[in-house]
Amino acid sequence: MSFEITEGVSFVGKIDWELRRFHGDELSTHRGTSYNSYLVRGDKTALIDSVWTPFADEFVEKLRKIIDLDKIDFIVANHGEPDHSGALPKLLDIQPEIPVYCTANGKKSLAGYYGKDWDFRIVKTGDKLDLGEGKELTFIEATMLHWPDTMITYLESDGILFSNDVFGQHFAAEPLFDDAVEAADLEYEALKYYANIISPFAKKARKKLDAIFQADLNIKMICPAHGVIWKNPNKILDLYKKWSSNYAEDQITIVYDTMYGSDRLMAEAIGEGIAEASPNTKLKIFNAARNDKNDIITEIFRSKGALVGSPTYNGGVLGSIAALLEELVGLHLPPKKAGAFCSYGWSPMSHKIIMKRLEEAGFEIVGAGVKSLWKPDEKILDECREFGAFFMRETD
Ligand code: FEO
Repeated sequence: MSFEITEGVSFVGKIDWELRRFHGDELSTHRGTSYNSYLVRGDKTALIDSVWTPFADEFVEKLRKIIDLDKIDFIVANHGEPDHSGALPKLLDIQPEIPVYCTANGKKSLAGYYGKDWDFRIVKTGDKLDLGEGKELTFIEATMLHWPDTMITYLESDGILFSNDVFGQHFAAEPLFDDAVEAADLEYEALKYYANIISPFAKKARKKLDAIFQADLNIKMICPAHGVIWKNPNKILDLYKKWSSNYAEDQITIVYDTMYGSDRLMAEAIGEGIAEASPNTKLKIFNAARNDKNDIITEIFRSKGALVGSPTYNGGVLGSIAALLEELVGLHLPPKKAGAFCSYGWSPMSHKIIMKRLEEAGFEIVGAGVKSLWKPDEKILDECREFGAFFMRETD
């Protein structure tokens, strides 16, 4: 599929309506995705990024129908991850002389991944590539947004920022524009993408983002490497400013897993205490084994507090909670208040483990939480309600 974005700039990527898991099986993509590749034509032609490896043949065959492959003068590889570089081996097997413009780290990741000695041209922030007819590409290193190799390419004549993963969303749509999809769905997918992909390096990324926010760029459109093109760039720029500034809504998220229902009873009683103490605060409760991990992380990202519970199981926590906590430790979400609860038969180890992992995730522990020996009775459930109210007071 191909469509014109502005005169001389067209989309030549792949919309993947099927995709439901990505990064192996780590990331859910409920609304599919797209691998966005762009052609920019002046006197010379540049191809910016390509598509994921499984679509390499399809991509090159479709590209042939749009342009003679020997008319592609430059490849710009904004990022080496295979969802954007996966068709380059195929294309460069056919046209090996096309130079590949990328950062120094881009060369490392591309050469490391594909083992090819392509004609790499290393670029730094401010370097330019003139395509003629007023089309000039400017490169901006965007280290850790979200890989060391990442860069962003700016086309000043059209005010287009080719931002690669930044400002992207896993969202299949046609037309592939922000004003052609449900605004709430788009904002959710952009938030989920930010929380699960961009946030691990948010502190480092913030500096780069600030440089983009403050740069004297007359951005009229953002063309990311996944999802819809932002005809209204200020919408996503404003969202990123918010999300990268210790973002928190008036929301508490409680996550638990359970074997025989005890931790569910505790989660709900803690929720009752929260609701009573702060009736207007949004409260969301998830069984981690029955809900999508990435959606739960998105909800924790937007919350000001998170409570996590698991029974003790083999001296540890249940698998879904272990996986969630491991992910939270790596993600470095904005600061949150946090607490733990557990049921147990002979050792409350799960409580200790949850507290430790939440601290390692950078969350501030509030109170001692609640532990229930066997099934929680009314006394323990009252303790849960009191803890919920206490947590709410300390979090406000
Ligand atoms: Fe969409 Fe970092 O790849």
